[in-house]
Parts: sequence; structure tokens; C-alpha cells
Amino acid sequence: MNDMTMDRAYRPAGLARGEVLGAPVPRIDGPAKVSGTATYAYEGAEPGIAYAAIVGAPVGSGRVTAIDAAAAEALPGVLAVIHGDPRMVTGGSNSQAQAHSDTDRIFHYGQPVAIVVAVDQAVAREAATLVVVSTETGDGRFDPTAQPVQRDPDIGFLKPVEIGDVDAALAAAPVVLDRSYTTPVHFPAALEPHASTVAWADGKLLVRTSNQVIGGARRTIARALGLAAEDVRVLAPFVGGGFGGKTGVGPEVILAAIAAERVGRPVKIALPRAQTAYLVHHRSATTQRVRIGATADGRITAFAHEGVAAQNDDASFLEPIPFGSLPLYAGEARRFRTDLVRVDLPATGAVRAPGEAIGTFAVECAMDELAETLGLDPVELRRRNEPEVDPVSGKRFSTRRMLDCYDEGARAFGWAERRKRREGDWLIGHGMAAALRGNFTVKAEARVTLAGDGRAIVACDMTDIGTGTYTILAQTVAEMLGLPIAAVEVQIGDSDLPASAGSGGSFGAGSACSAAVLACEDILATLALRMNAAPEDLLLHDGVVTAGGRNVALVDLLDGAAIVATGKTGPGAETQATSQASHGAHFVEVAVHAVTGEVRVRRMLGVFDVGRVLNAKTAANQLIGGMVWGLSYALGEAAVVDLRNGHFVNPDFAEYHVAVNADVPRIDVRFIEEIDDSANPVGAKGVGELGISGAGAAVANAIHDACGVRVRDFPVTLDKLL
Ligand code: MOS
Repeated sequence: MNDMTMDRAYRPAGLARGEVLGAPVPRIDGPAKVSGTATYAYEGAEPGIAYAAIVGAPVGSGRVTAIDAAAAEALPGVLAVIHGDPRMVTGGSNSQAQAHSDTDRIFHYGQPVAIVVAVDQAVAREAATLVVVSTETGDGRFDPTAQPVQRDPDIGFLKPVEIGDVDAALAAAPVVLDRSYTTPVHFPAALEPHASTVAWADGKLLVRTSNQVIGGARRTIARALGLAAEDVRVLAPFVGGGFGGKTGVGPEVILAAIAAERVGRPVKIALPRAQTAYLVHHRSATTQRVRIGATADGRITAFAHEGVAAQNDDASFLEPIPFGSLPLYAGEARRFRTDLVRVDLPATGAVRAPGEAIGTFAVECAMDELAETLGLDPVELRRRNEPEVDPVSGKRFSTRRMLDCYDEGARAFGWAERRKRREGDWLIGHGMAAALRGNFTVKAEARVTLAGDGRAIVACDMTDIGTGTYTILAQTVAEMLGLPIAAVEVQIGDSDLPASAGSGGSFGAGSACSAAVLACEDILATLALRMNAAPEDLLLHDGVVTAGGRNVALVDLLDGAAIVATGKTGPGAETQATSQASHGAHFVEVAVHAVTGEVRVRRMLGVFDVGRVLNAKTAANQLIGGMVWGLSYALGEAAVVDLRNGHFVNPDFAEYHVAVNADVPRIDVRFIEEIDDSANPVGAKGVGELGISGAGAAVANAIHDACGVRVRDFPVTLDKLL
């Protein structure tokens, strides 16, 4: 096994050429998806399969006093109505697998209190409406802004940062900006709803589910059901989007397993769209305060970004609001923190770019206001505060091309030539913002088999959530072994395969491809021995191995026998020694209607530093998707809580407004590519969560430029502009 923790700078020789890796190769799984042969979690129907539907709590807090299932059980086709099983109880969308002896407690509206199993989906869902749930209603805490703030909460992973005397530095600063912002509840609204097909056999559980991180899912499911991890197998060959909402295990998976156990049949479940609002964690609404002290020439001396996020009593995530702000700008005195309010709402959790997505909204709008106050160009203000080393940890940056992102973005967008103007009733304005997302290296393994016929198979338990995992793994192995992409088979989405990173935290691609690189290195070493050559002198191209002027067909060198190798990567000394992040700059042009306040985004351009680009097409696609989401939450996305009972007023796509094609302009994405040897063996930094970071702020800043209105409460709906 090639075990390569990141304790030294490292670049595999096989990747130097970069002919295949990085190329804009179309997704190799595309034909299966467009032809309908890709197997998603809800596909197929095993003989005798039953269907489950969840009954949710009809109030937002209190207790269940009785459940009357008689009418539901009487409906023809109903197999069982299950309630009161302690394993069912969770107030978190990610099954926390805590033992709840108190099975009557209601943590939030819509919390599962019963599950109906029937011979058909329509029957199950109709029967679920017939279950009568009696409750004793509690005093619900549904308005986060009305709750006491707990400072220094013991949940969440981001500890408060306090450097220097922030209050004194703010008091002494010649220029001080002090602004407050709010962001609403965001849904991670994946196109494929949460769905699972589960089956028991000989005490073992097979779960085909829609999940981003199936190694973690296997362990969570096992814990929740009291099984050994080896007795659970999780399959997720295709996943129709996740956005953080599928990083954990939703209660529906556990409920389906309980249902299948009860009725002795395999069971399928898919959450109706409205139910995803309650059973999938959402991004907390936040309040944020940003204070920046600066000199008259725009040098930041004090920077404070403080926020408050909500969580219910049964979940332990806390939105790390200032996560992206920490290393963004220089400034000696620094304060960053997230405090907590407890609420009786569905769980909040990691939604794409936790912290950055909404933290950069406040900070990057505040920087725009500071630039205006100082009479400085917003790009120039940022340039003047570009840190030399990480301003919190003091560590050197692994790679940081932020200044190049500003410069290339400004040049390509025509920033210097921009003209605020009026075209008929439309007011045209421009805005920009920085983007930053921390980079993480996590443990990952991959197995590569070079078969006797010269074809390769790469296998690990990664997922492809629409991001291009199949394609970049094939490209990586093709690059390393000198094979055409078509000669590489990719096996992912099965928890029985070597444990990889999963798709989360923007660490999946870099970690999984690095493990594949290391496995290929092992294979190359074996081939080099057979060629009596050093591995670095080996050249593999189109199935021919060349060394020392000798050409040998790969199949002859293999002589009918496969070579199998496993690569393993993870964080090490180099990860510890450096501060790592992906960077970028957004530039936006908007038109605001002078009479109606309607906003149309006309152009978006982003320039990004993501280390090695593994596939120029799929990487750009992810960044475009992130920018679309930035536009979408800037202008429309907001879940509205009914303060009387904690239910969501708009839990569906009819009233929770996500950007549609007609809202999205041409989006131009460019890269400043510098391979980051400190990040991981393949030299790639995270992409998935970078595009949304800063994008919404750039839209809001452009709106202000166009019409002069500063909106500090997202989303920027037209009523706020009139
Ligand atoms: Mo992400 S919020 O780790 O999908």
C-alpha cells in the first residue's frame, strides 16, 4: 500500500505531463443519466417491495399524547403503522443515534412520529394523512431573534477567535464601519429528494440511498439500529445533488429500515418535496455584525465578525458564520465568533459552504461600504489588505493567488471601464466581492487494478453528486497509467469499496484522486521493476511502456496477470504547517428597474484559484452552480417560519424561490491555476463550495451601485428597493 500522508511537498512524476487530467472531458456517466439507465436510490422494484410514508408532528413543540392509527390501518393495502419505537425518535435530520427514552418529545414541526407501510406509495401517503396525532402543545421557541443568546456554546467546531484588543483598536481607528446583517433559512434543495430502498437479509441491511458520504452513512445507520458496521452495506451509485443536505443520514433511512424489519419485505421511501423542509437539515437564519476599523488610506487595523445562529435541542451543528472571514484580510486586532440560540425548529446543519456562503455576504457587503466611505475602489481596498501570512494562525499560505484573481477578474470584466448608467427605466450597476473557502485534506483510500488485458479499474466508496467524480477518477488513472479514458472503469458509490472521503467540505475530489494517484504510483513501481528501469524514467502511452529506448506493449509486460495496488492519503505535517484555502473574485453587472424594483443580473464573472484543475469543464460547472446559488439566495431564497407553530410557510418550489434559467445570465468562470503541492498529492484544492462564497454579496453590491439602496437583510427582494 502506498501510504502518503502529507508530510512533505510532493508531486508524482506521472502527473507532470497533464495531457488527460485537467482536460475538459465530458462526464463519462452522462449517457447513463440522459438515457435513464442510471440507477438512483428510488429506481427499480424488487418483488414484494413495500412503500413507506412518514407522519410528522402537527405542532412545533410539546408532546405526543396519543396516536390513533385505526383509520389508516383500515385502508386496503396498508401493511403496518409503526410508532413509539425509541429508534425512531430524532430531532436532527442526521440521525444522531442518541438513545431517547422519551419517545413523546416533539423537537420540531414535522418530526416523524409514525411511519405507514403499504403495498404502494399512493396508499402509504394517503394512509399517513389518516393517522390522528394528539398532542400537548409546548411554548414553542420559533423566533430565533426573540431567544436569549448563549455565548461560547459547547456545540459547533469553530472556536471563537480573539486577537489583540479589538475594542481599543476600533475606538482608535480613524474610520470605523459598524453594520448588522440578517440572512434567512436556506434549504439545500437537491433536485432528487431524499430517497432510500432498504432490504434485510440474514440480519444484514442493504440500503440504496441518496447520500454524499456513504462511509459515514454506514456507521451512522449501524449505530442507530444497533448493528455492526459490517452488517450494513450502503449503495449510492448516482446522487441527484446534495448541497450538504445529504452529508448525514436522514431519519427516513432509519424509519425505512424499521418498517422493513416489521413487515418482512424490502421497503422504499422518498420524501415528498414539502417534507424535505422538515426532515432535511437547513442552513440557519443568522444575524451578523461586522465592525471594521481602518486608517484613512484604507489599511484595516481591527476586524470583528460576530454572528448568531440557531439550533434545536437535539442536534449539535452550529453554522460557523465567520469561517470564510478568518484569513480573508489583514488587520492586527481580530474577533470572530458564532453564538447560539436554541429554537424548536427543524435541525440546522451543514449546507453548501457552511459559514462562507452567508458570512461572506455580510463581510463582503461591509467591505463595499467601507470602500465607499473611504472613497476607494473596492478592488483596491481589498488589494491593500491582502495578508502575507494567515492573519489568525500566522502560518504561511500553501498557495494564495487572490491578487491574481482580482487582477484577472477586473481585466476580463472591464472593471475600470464600468459605467453606472440608466437605460430607459433600467439602472445599471456593478459590484464585486472576494471568495474564499478553506481547503481540507481528509483520509481517503482507493484501489487500482491494472488488469491483464491492459484495462484499469479504480474503486473507492466516493460518491458523484453531479460533480464529476466518475470522470475525474478516470482521468487521474488514465493520466498516471498512460491509458485512454475509455480503458478505465470507475467503481464508486458502494460502502464495501475502500473508504474514501465522500462528497463534502469540498475535499472529495482532491482526496479521492490523490489516493488513486498513489495507487497508480505503486503499479508504476512494479512495471518499472519489470522494465529494469527507475519509475521516473518510465513512459506509458496508449498501452505502450517505454524505458531506456525500449518499447514494450503493456499487455506483454503484464503477461495476463493483474497488478493491484491501494493508495492512501490523509492530512500530515505539511497540512499542519500551512494555511490552505481556495480563493476567487466575483464581478457582477445588474439592472434594477427604476419603477418596479425588479433586479436582473446581466453578467457574472468569477476568477478562481483552486490549485490543480482536475477537469476544466466539471470544475467550471461546479463554480457556475455555486454562482447561480449566490444569485439565487441574494435575490429570492428564504424559508418563512410561521411564528405561531414553527412550520415553514413555503416548503416547496412554488413558493421557495430558487433561480431558474430565465434568472441566470451568461456566467464566465476562469482559473488561475497553480498546483498546490502542500494540499495533497494531486495538488488540487476545493472547488465545490467556493463559487457560492461571495457571489451573493457581489450581486448586492452591484444593486447598491445601480440604485443607491443598501439592503442588509437578505434576500434583496424588490419591496426593499422601492
Ligand atoms: Mo457540504 S455542506 O460539506 O456538502
